[in-house]
Amino acid sequence: MPTKTDNHSDSQKRIWDDASLARVHDVPDKARRVQAMFDAIVERYERVNTLTTLGLDATWRKQLVRRLELPTGAVVLDLACGTGQVLRLIHQMRPEAIRLVGGDFSEAMIREARRRGPATASFLQADAQHLPFAGGSFDAVTCVFGVRNFANPEAGLREMFRVLRPGGMVGILEFSMPKAVVLHRLYKFYFRRVLPRLASWLSGDTGGAYEYLQKSIEAFQDVDLAGRLGRCGFEQAGVRWLTFGVVHLYTAYKPARGSQA
Ligand SMILES: C[S@@+](CC[C@H](N)C(=O)[O-])C[C@H]1O[C@@H](n2cnc3c(N)ncnc32)[C@H](O)[C@@H]1O
Repeated sequence: MPTKTDNHSDSQKRIWDDASLARVHDVPDKARRVQAMFDAIVERYERVNTLTTLGLDATWRKQLVRRLELPTGAVVLDLACGTGQVLRLIHQMRPEAIRLVGGDFSEAMIREARRRGPATASFLQADAQHLPFAGGSFDAVTCVFGVRNFANPEAGLREMFRVLRPGGMVGILEFSMPKAVVLHRLYKFYFRRVLPRLASWLSGDTGGAYEYLQKSIEAFQDVDLAGRLGRCGFEQAGVRWLTFGVVHLYTAYKPARGSQA
């Protein structure tokens, strides 16, 4: 895991400059930068998301939570849990889930998640690429807007596979870009010209977090996550477009014991 960073001084420093933004997923110290960035923006993280997506982020999370297939007494891990929004929804919407665990490598995010709850969930600082759980520990793993941020997304998917029990389900939300030509152009304008400025202003961030958001999504939009899930051992990997493809919802299963897959 990257070394601990200082929230307040990092929020004053530039974390992403033009050179690192130009190769946003390939910078050698991506994990350190991403961790410092999320430590720095935690305070207004939820509010900025709500305002810049016009509240759609809540409906995207709800759609994921509704899709989860959970047995009674389910044990669920939310990876890259941020401030704990997904686990709060699972707590409200899915009473069959009895044990909720949130993991994130940002110390500030974990602190905020513990403060906001749910009180019954346990939150721990953990790197999604090296999880501190035994294989087969969870009935479901969720990851919302996290995978794109991993230094090695495939290593994160492999860890999700390892910690799931056979037959368990993964649910992932990730941003993309709408494909329809006119929508794509309109969205690209908002996305490049408006969003980074608006979000930086709303959050007070000077570290480049929202330039990173824009660049990292554009650079990740053609990644075939369903294909990668398949390469990591998952079966029935599928994707559904939400809000014209602005967000993709991926689901997949770890083969059940005795399955031929
Ligand atoms: C865009 S936020 C998403 C937070 C939350 N899932 C949500 O629904 O808003 C991405 C989160 O991923 C976390 N993250 C990025 N890379 C990680 C890694 N390798 N291990 C654990 N957490 C990671 C960040 O610290 C941040 O909290």
